[in-house]
Amino acid sequence: MNRGPFIFIGLFIILALSWAYTLDRPQAESGKLSPIGSSSERMPRETVGLAAKGKEVYQEMGCIACHTQQVRFESGSDIARGWGERQSVARDYIDQNPVLLGHNRIGSDLTNVGLRYEEADVLHQLFYNPRISSSKSNMPSYSFLYEERKIIGQASDNALVLPDEYAPEEGMEIVPTSKANALVAYMLSLKADYDLVEAPSLKKVDLK
Ligand code: HEC
Repeated sequence: MNRGPFIFIGLFIILALSWAYTLDRPQAESGKLSPIGSSSERMPRETVGLAAKGKEVYQEMGCIACHTQQVRFESGSDIARGWGERQSVARDYIDQNPVLLGHNRIGSDLTNVGLRYEEADVLHQLFYNPRISSSKSNMPSYSFLYEERKIIGQASDNALVLPDEYAPEEGMEIVPTSKANALVAYMLSLKADYDLVEAPSLKKVDLK
């Protein structure tokens, strides 16, 4: 008996189902999501200007190897840890290309890092040397994003304020490069502080 047509039909069905479940269904469910709010206050906010440049630095530096940008609910304690008040959903990512979800959590989730830090200085200090705030930190230092230079006249306004043991020698200062400023602007822009119907705030919900 010629089995050719059966093999062909079998393969066709497998491919059609794979296409339907991995491409067509997700596209139908979340491919047409739109932002909420008015044009002046649309959510999610778009990452623009310096923050958009910072997103490129984030990709270039490989921060995604250790950090996620997705608050999970079902897997447990993200909300209890204070990483967000609600889980992340597809609508949060509609403007992102690429989406920097990440899957390793050696460091914390950064979805709402802009709500945890209000000042740029603390983040600059962290990127310059994570061991300053946490002596056992295994986050790499990004000191190459900072420039050590001679103080001519007055010290620069944006010079890092460092504890004595990390401070440069007398007459020198550490200042952020444009990449460091962009990275910090990107971090400060990361805030999922808006409610969505599909993911209301869970802060007051008993998680046990
Ligand atoms: C090898 C893993 C690793 C890499 C790579 C890494 N980090 Fe981290 N990061 C950590 C760890 C661990 C912490 C937790 C605090 C600590 O140990 O300093 C942390 C903390 C942070 C924090 C503070 C978060 C909070 O919740 O307070 C920020 C912001 C941060 N990292 C951003 C970055 C950025 C931006 C990059 C890339 C330039 C990066 N990290 C690369 C491991 C990493």
